Amino acid sequence: MARLLLGVSGGIAAYKALETARLAVKAGHAVRVIQTPTSERFVGAASFQALTGAPVLTSEFEPDPARGSYPGEPPPARAPISHLALVARAELYLIAPASANTLAKLAHGHADNLLSSAALAAPCPVAVAPAMNNRMYAHPATQANLELLAARGVTVIRPDDGELASHDEYGIGRLSSPAALLAACESLLSADLAGAEGVAPRGPLSGVRVLVSAGGTREPIDSVRFIGNRSSGRMGFALATEAVRRGAEVTVVAANVGLDSPAGLSRLDVNTAAELEAVCARELEASDVVLMTAAVADFRPARPVEHKLKKDSGAPATLELEPTADILAGLTARRRPGQVIVGFAAEHGAGTLEHGRDKLARKALDAIVVNDISRPGVGFEAAENAVTILTADGVRRDVQRTSKRLIAHAVLDEVQRLRAIGESPTPTTNGPHGGAARAGARSAARV
Ligand code: CTP
Repeated sequence: MARLLLGVSGGIAAYKALETARLAVKAGHAVRVIQTPTSERFVGAASFQALTGAPVLTSEFEPDPARGSYPGEPPPARAPISHLALVARAELYLIAPASANTLAKLAHGHADNLLSSAALAAPCPVAVAPAMNNRMYAHPATQANLELLAARGVTVIRPDDGELASHDEYGIGRLSSPAALLAACESLLSADLAGAEGVAPRGPLSGVRVLVSAGGTREPIDSVRFIGNRSSGRMGFALATEAVRRGAEVTVVAANVGLDSPAGLSRLDVNTAAELEAVCARELEASDVVLMTAAVADFRPARPVEHKLKKDSGAPATLELEPTADILAGLTARRRPGQVIVGFAAEHGAGTLEHGRDKLARKALDAIVVNDISRPGVGFEAAENAVTILTADGVRRDVQRTSKRLIAHAVLDEVQRLRAIGESPTPTTNGPHGGAARAGARSAARV
């Protein structure tokens, strides 16, 4: 069940947005609605309010009575500073119907109403469902706008072919049915693009090969016992899911992950640090991006026993350990130009960022995603996280506590920025590590 933000723009098909909202609520989603002023000429806010059980927003200047909360959540004690709190918390922003005018505004970054401002500020996946007259839909301007949006990772839910609103007019331009819109949203939320009728599985990472390591390694003591860690693999799987959604070819190396695989990727299972190292080394050459979320044991028993140690034989006096290889440092040492390699560091308490910066430099990474696991409710085994992304070209980006899905979104945005810098023809400092990061194209706050 997800927080779904529905943006409704002007057009006769706005009546189908009511049914879409109704079906989404019935399916258990928490739905909030933003309407453009024109859409209110077709359907009234009162209908959406009744169906969603929440106020409808139309203007940047009206405070949200629900203070950015979704149905089923308590409103925060203080009103959020921004009118964009609603989109900041959405897990998916569906704009349906998306009129030709709204698509043009979205494609060119206009922010002249709440719907378009929210689209610019959306940290979550955005989907648009065009609906208009067939000649307007076929016009090269509309098609170019849709191309532009799709290339930026916006999912386009194609309109249907058939009878149009004007008498005796037929063609492509009918808004997809409410059931199909909901199915597309649910597929997007689970990244099962293959299952969504009419959804184009294209995105900004089309053709990019992404290697993700997930979970935690286990180092055997004997044939049944091991030294392990608490990593569940959720962060790695969230990243893999989001990379698939953006069109990437994804391989996940899963170290002891008990989760079902997200759809649309290859999964290779491993147990120990040595196995993880061997698979990552083999896959490196064929990868454009490496996201190393796995928690790797730094030490392993030097002489694991092949059978089961028996209690009757007495406890061993000592357990001799030997260091494992630093897999990530090994990968960056053998990288080829243009590869983006990202590390993850779970640190405890004071000095979190300093340790992160140290690892960024020591392991010659393009970026490191650092989190403080001493904070309650985030990190290992939790559904949420709060991280700081540090990059070799000096950017620091803080992502406040949120779902691992939205953390994955922020990390992949940063990967895309680093790839874009790596591909740019401008002379480069190549960052401190000769990686993809270059000076001169910085978009976020400096460290
Ligand atoms: N890592 C690795 N191989 C190891 C240890 C860590 O590839 N033997 C990777 C992790 O997957 C992660 C990054 O390095 O992406 C940082 O992991 P962390 O355990 O924080 O780094 P360590 O070098 O082990 O530092 P620490 O001294 O804090 O344990």
